[in-house]
Amino acid sequence: MCGIVGIVGNEPVAVRLVDALKRLEYRGYDSAGVATLQGGKIARRRAEGKLVNLAQKLDAEPMSGQIGIGHTRWATHGAPTEGNAHPHVTDRVAVVHNGIIENYREMLLDLAKDGYLPDTQTDTEAVALWASRELANGADPEQAVSRTLKKLRGAFALAFMVHGREDLLIAARHGAPLAIGYGNGEMYLGSDAMAMAPFTSRLSYLEDGDWAVITHSGVTIRDRSDAIVERDQLVSLTSAAMVDKGNHRHFMAKEIYEQPETIGHTLSHYVDMGTERVAIREALPFNFADLSRLTISACGTAYLAGAVAKYWFERYARLPVDIDVASEFRYREPPLEKNGLSLFISQSGETADTLAALRYCASQGQHVAALVNTLESTIARESDVVFPILCGPEIGVASTKALTAQLTALASLAIAAGRARGVLSAEQETDMVQALIGLPTAVSAALGTEDQIMEIAKRLSKAKDVLYLGRGPMFPIAMEGALKLKEISYIHAEGYAAGELKHGPIALVDEAMPVIVVAPSDELVDKTLSNMQEVAARGGKIILITDAQGAETVGQGVADVILIPHVSSFVAPILATIPVQLLAYHTAVFMGTDVDQPRNLAKSVTVE
Ligand code: F6R
Repeated sequence: MCGIVGIVGNEPVAVRLVDALKRLEYRGYDSAGVATLQGGKIARRRAEGKLVNLAQKLDAEPMSGQIGIGHTRWATHGAPTEGNAHPHVTDRVAVVHNGIIENYREMLLDLAKDGYLPDTQTDTEAVALWASRELANGADPEQAVSRTLKKLRGAFALAFMVHGREDLLIAARHGAPLAIGYGNGEMYLGSDAMAMAPFTSRLSYLEDGDWAVITHSGVTIRDRSDAIVERDQLVSLTSAAMVDKGNHRHFMAKEIYEQPETIGHTLSHYVDMGTERVAIREALPFNFADLSRLTISACGTAYLAGAVAKYWFERYARLPVDIDVASEFRYREPPLEKNGLSLFISQSGETADTLAALRYCASQGQHVAALVNTLESTIARESDVVFPILCGPEIGVASTKALTAQLTALASLAIAAGRARGVLSAEQETDMVQALIGLPTAVSAALGTEDQIMEIAKRLSKAKDVLYLGRGPMFPIAMEGALKLKEISYIHAEGYAAGELKHGPIALVDEAMPVIVVAPSDELVDKTLSNMQEVAARGGKIILITDAQGAETVGQGVADVILIPHVSSFVAPILATIPVQLLAYHTAVFMGTDVDQPRNLAKSVTVE
């Protein structure tokens, strides 16, 4: 989750670039850099650590250029050193990047054939070198960037500055946010409105696939097919608020759409993209191999993240797992085994019941670990070890991107435990990490189901009760679907284990009952689809979430099939979260409820 800024200015820009980066520092702060054009030549200053180090460097060695780009980094590929800091520079271009270029190694191999060799361990350098080769081969800057973009796989926001072109920046967005700012005779770009707030409040948010040619006189935006497009100009109120909705109607929509990036960012903390191995950065006050049991407590959606993780830790690490909602756990006062690890999952880090459960476990001599989004929170402060989720502030009351970030972190921890306990081989670890690395792209594709889901949501908004079914790790995802629908649309919904249906809830099924079945193809899909047929036989209106392989065996009686990409069954629960979020969101929008602030709820539940 790095931050990007750019200015096509009328006076020296370096100090203003650093000023803008300060407001993006929440997106990363392990190194920073700026590049400007001085007499047409690229000049650069970079520094490891916080932005203040870069500011000091600029004080000592000022820069005069009137056009420039800047970056604050949260390291993904390559250590957080000055050498790996952005901008990445060749003799022809300077590039800043937020996101992950998945195919950078393949690109570097190709570039090496022509003698273009990297100086850093970053994925970004492949982009700079590729564009440089295009320029050297005679392409103009627009052609060079357009061709480079077509080569890239992954999620990214990019800005290019070109040697000798003092009134040109080129920006591109695919799965990571980027906005263009309009000034008086100056133009800007930034990862969010906050970055540009002191310069301008007039913004256009780029959409995925867009790329923009920015000059003093304005901007030309093209879509992924290179056709010129118009993007709304809006006036941001960001100076009044720390965050804004971008061009989304609700924070919840923005946060759903941020997930390719937030999953990628969280992942970059837990895995080494180069070696494709898990890399836990936190100093662990315990050894996974010695743990007797894992006890998970959390509330609401965070609890459901833990419920999925139970399947992972038991299956891939053979570690016994107990899980309970914190409000029950805290009063049960359960006996806890010696050398047990207690894990508390909380977006806010302030949930009262979760905190009370934590204090109980700490008093019982357990190792205490927290998985939180807010690192300064009470739960984080009171834990022996804190695992971060790096999804940025979540404003919508209904949790979305925090859940997928929690799952991403938990999946990584389960792999680490599996390796430490001798259950997983190195090859299995690599396969599983590769599956995780592929998630941002798969999530982007799953977001493409939105139009179909809007149609389904129109019908769902008329329902009184909805049943969600899932089996194995899809059972908690079914419960999450029901929870999301309940809390923002106020429609009664229940999530059930598919196999449990015939032990009671099937009595509810009639022609008026929508039944949402979450069943991507895995070892259990046939069993879930059999349960689905039991519903179809009783007239239930089935909405099936599956992949192409699952769809082949669907059979009769299914009203709608929502197709998501096929991924390994290990990461499928993370991907299956996307359509259940979209279904709840669009149903609520049709019903006209207050999506971001549903009645009776609060974001941080600090009372029991
Ligand atoms: C549901 C939701 C809540 C929270 C729960 C725990 O969409 O957001 O169920 O998950 O209140 O909150 P945290 O994670 O802050 O402890």
